Order: sequence, then structure tokens, then C-alpha cells
Amino acid sequence: MRVIITKDYDEMSKEAARIIAKQIKEKPDSVIGFATGGTPVGTYKELIRMHKEEGLDFSKITTFNLDEYYGLGPDHPQSYHYYMFENLFNHVNVDPKKIHIPDGLAKDVDAFCKEYEEEIKKAGGIDLQILGIGRDGHIAFNEPGSSLASRTRLVALAEETIKDNARFFEKEEDVPRYALSMGVGTILEAKKILLLANGESKADAVAALIEGPVTSQVTASALQLHPDVTVIIDEAAASKLKRKSYYKFVDKMYRMLEEKKSL
Ligand code: GLP
Repeated sequence: MRVIITKDYDEMSKEAARIIAKQIKEKPDSVIGFATGGTPVGTYKELIRMHKEEGLDFSKITTFNLDEYYGLGPDHPQSYHYYMFENLFNHVNVDPKKIHIPDGLAKDVDAFCKEYEEEIKKAGGIDLQILGIGRDGHIAFNEPGSSLASRTRLVALAEETIKDNARFFEKEEDVPRYALSMGVGTILEAKKILLLANGESKADAVAALIEGPVTSQVTASALQLHPDVTVIIDEAAASKLKRKSYYKFVDKMYRMLEEKKSL
């Protein structure tokens, strides 16, 4: 696991956008897994800037989103569908036919989830999956106790998550209690994973993800089993890590090697 500690949110966002842009430039028809939440908004802003000012081309990528609130349609302003179009897709040249977001209004949920998994396979698997992390250590909507082998399915949201996400709704009662979410097993099949976290409220979850035991009680900890994970966190989110200076040292080494390679 590569850990990159940045001084603040802005630097975290730019670093993440740089990695995503590199992936798209190296493989223009990449399959990218997108995440929602407050954390990646800055990254998406930077990707939009790169598209507008530097011509970063999204036209050949295929996208898969991690999750969607169950019961919210694409036009609902709090749906993840709406979020993705507002924060990224409306501002870059992604092909609408290649966008996949779980359908919060799916009638036959099981059939829909199976089909979603099939679509990911048909696209050749996810090349780069972007993730945030919940305060309880969840990735996508895989709440504590989710199987580390879980697949796309209907999940019940934890109390803490409902409270955290209430800030996006008028009142807490409006937050849906269920969601469709890729499973931990689905996420672990991505070729590369990029997880972002910022702020002190994520420090415990980040410490558990990087330094805690692998446990279904912190589903992000399953990323320790994946061979190609980059975690980008700001100083506040890194504040509870025991081996912070070691990670910084390793990151410096990686950067020196990368510089040498590009000379
Ligand atoms: C939701 C999403 C997650 C996201 C998490 C953290 O639960 N399903 O994918 O990582 O929120 O969100 P935020 O970035 O707003 O803290």
C-alpha cells in the first residue's frame, strides 16, 4: 500500500487528479470506477480544469459508480447519479453511453445487481477504482460486518452513515435507509485502487485501514490484501498513524525513482 500524505485538501485533490489523468493518458479506453461524497469533489474540479485547459480526453473511458441510494431516481438532487453529472460528467467529454451508475429505482434488485457485475466483466474489469472512506471505515456502502467477499447488492445503511450523510439532505429523516453498492469483493477485483481521505474526522478510519487488522468491521482494511493501492490523505487524516514518518520516507523514494524513470 502506498501512502501519500499531503499538506491539505487542495494538494490531496491535485495529486489524485494527476494519478487519474496519468491512467487515462496511458490507456485512453480505461475503465474508471468513480466515487461520490464530499471528498472527491476537489479531484473532479481539477479533472475538469485539466479537460478544459490541457485537453484531457475522457471520450473513450467507461465508467462505473460504486453505489446509489435505493429509492432515489437520477433526477433527485441527492442521488449519486445527479452528483456525478453535476460534479464531473456534465463538464467533460465522457460518452453518456459508457456511464454506469446503479439504478436506485431498480424493480428487480437482485437481477439488476447481477447485471451490474456482468457489465463490469464485459468492460474488461475496472482499471482504476477511486474510493472515499466513511467514518466507520466503510468503502462504497459496505458497512461494518459486510463480507469481505461481498458483491453488488442491496445494503442497509448504518446509523453513523445516515447521520454523516444527513448534511446533504434537508433533514435526517430524508436520508434513504438502503443503497445499492458494489461489494468489497467487487472492489478488490479492480486492477488499481486510489483511496482519498481528508480531515480529522477520518483519522481513526484511516489508521484502521492502514495499520489495523483486516476485519469486516472496517471494510476498508480489506484493501491491505490488494497488490496496488494508493492512499492519499491530508495531514489531519494522517494524524493517528503510528508510522507516518516511514510512509513519508517511502513516498520520497518512490518519487525519486519516478523522476529517474522519466529522465
Ligand atoms: C458515502 C459513500 C462513500 C463515501 C463516504 C464518505 O457513504 N457511499 O463512497 O466514501 O460517504 O463521504 P465523504 O467523502 O462525504 O466523507
